[in-house]
Amino acid sequence: MAKVHVFDHPLIQHKLTFIRDVNTGTKEFRELVDEVATLMAYEITRDLPLQEVDVQTPVSNAKSQVLAGKKLGIVPILRAGIGMVDGMLKLIPAARVGHVGLFRDPETLEPHEYFVKLPSDVSERELIVVDPMLATGGTAVEAINSLKKRGAKHIKFMCLVAAPEGVEVLTEAHPDVDVYIAALDEKLNDHGYIVPGLGDAGDRLFGTK
Ligand code: URA
Repeated sequence: MAKVHVFDHPLIQHKLTFIRDVNTGTKEFRELVDEVATLMAYEITRDLPLQEVDVQTPVSNAKSQVLAGKKLGIVPILRAGIGMVDGMLKLIPAARVGHVGLFRDPETLEPHEYFVKLPSDVSERELIVVDPMLATGGTAVEAINSLKKRGAKHIKFMCLVAAPEGVEVLTEAHPDVDVYIAALDEKLNDHGYIVPGLGDAGDRLFGTK
């Protein structure tokens, strides 16, 4: 079964408060999402495997550690996921970046992919799928279906704010995908917005309405 991790680091929680605030404008919102994405990248990479190497210091030889194991990939779900990419790349600059775009059929409300571009070695990478919001879970489930269809095997999902409904849908559909969130909110409202949430993440990031 998938594990759900809530990042309770004080800096993440502090910054998230200002991200939520309706009075935070686009520029500051974007900067804060970028900063929180950096902090979350630090937390989500906590269990990366290491291997011992020898390094010559100015004083003597030392046994030290470097990252080992799979290379990383970051996959933002368009469009709001893009707001989290640069912040993550500050800590993991060698990660490749794929993109997944989905639209919701206005009749059936089912998500359909319209754009998928991934690193060619996707099956060998540890992928972190990012979207600021996990609301109904439909988009996240479909995005991960798209990745698995193309060979992805090692996937984590990371978001700022999640609704319990979305967490349940995602973990049931993809029990092999651990979920990393900054805040688990109360519920979804009738319009599919997370309560209390932060509003429309894409609009607030890009200054659209
Ligand atoms: N997407 C958003 O941007 N905000 C929500 O509250 C739910 C989905």
